[in-house]
Amino acid sequence: MPSTIRVEIKRQASPDTAAVTETFEIPYRPGMNITSLLGEIALNPVDVTGKATTPVTYDSNCLEEICGSCAMLINGKARMACSALVDKLEQPIRLAPLSKFPIVRDLSVDRSVLFENLKKIKAWVPIDGTYDLGAGPRQFPQVQEQRYPLSNCISCCCCMEVCPQFNDVTNFVGAATIAQTKLFNLDPAGAVLAEERLRALSGDGGIQECSFAQNCVMTCPKELPLTEAISDMERDVFVQQVKDFFTR
Ligand code: SF4
Ligand code: SF4
Ligand code: FES
Repeated sequence: MPSTIRVEIKRQASPDTAAVTETFEIPYRPGMNITSLLGEIALNPVDVTGKATTPVTYDSNCLEEICGSCAMLINGKARMACSALVDKLEQPIRLAPLSKFPIVRDLSVDRSVLFENLKKIKAWVPIDGTYDLGAGPRQFPQVQEQRYPLSNCISCCCCMEVCPQFNDVTNFVGAATIAQTKLFNLDPAGAVLAEERLRALSGDGGIQECSFAQNCVMTCPKELPLTEAISDMERDVFVQQVKDFFTR
């Protein structure tokens, strides 16, 4: 094992400045992850030539692959920095921001597009919390089993980064939003908005943009059953379109 860890980081001081690559060499410690490596750089932000620089900006919060904030490109792959172990990575380790989202600074990007897409499909259960409604409707265990894996989405956007259809031309909403449509449509109380959600997945940027490349399901750090969710929602959107054709 080398005594140092070499890491090349693509950096950009602001959305309008040119990107540069800075190389760092950090003393080796066993068991480090990418977040702790970036923390070491922040303690002593000096590059491999001895030039002083600034700490690297990146997003993180939970440090246990739950909050979804630390997604970045690590050796070219979209993954979470907090669960990427240095000992398992080829060196020099290459870090870059996700490429399909606007840069904020360095490794931090603006992923608000996912939250806008979730608003489009009303990814919530509409209940009036101003008075006690009593116990909610019961859910069959079979439904719970389908919903639980979908509820594990951490909004990291890795599925959108790797999706060939997620781009400015298609405006495709991406796999995470489709999976959350299924999650909330399966909820006995959330189902009241099911038709509106399915209509939001029709038309420009909707589910028909998916080319079933399945990059998303192979990349998702929480192993959501995305292929199944996409094909289920494609069927439901089609049925909704037929229904609307005859009734609206
Ligand atoms: S199946 Fe392919 S095209 Fe569809 S959301 Fe996943 S990566 Fe994108
Ligand atoms: S579906 Fe998976 S890859 Fe996509 S945002 Fe959710 S957790 Fe991340
Ligand atoms: S810091 Fe929360 S997922 Fe990595």
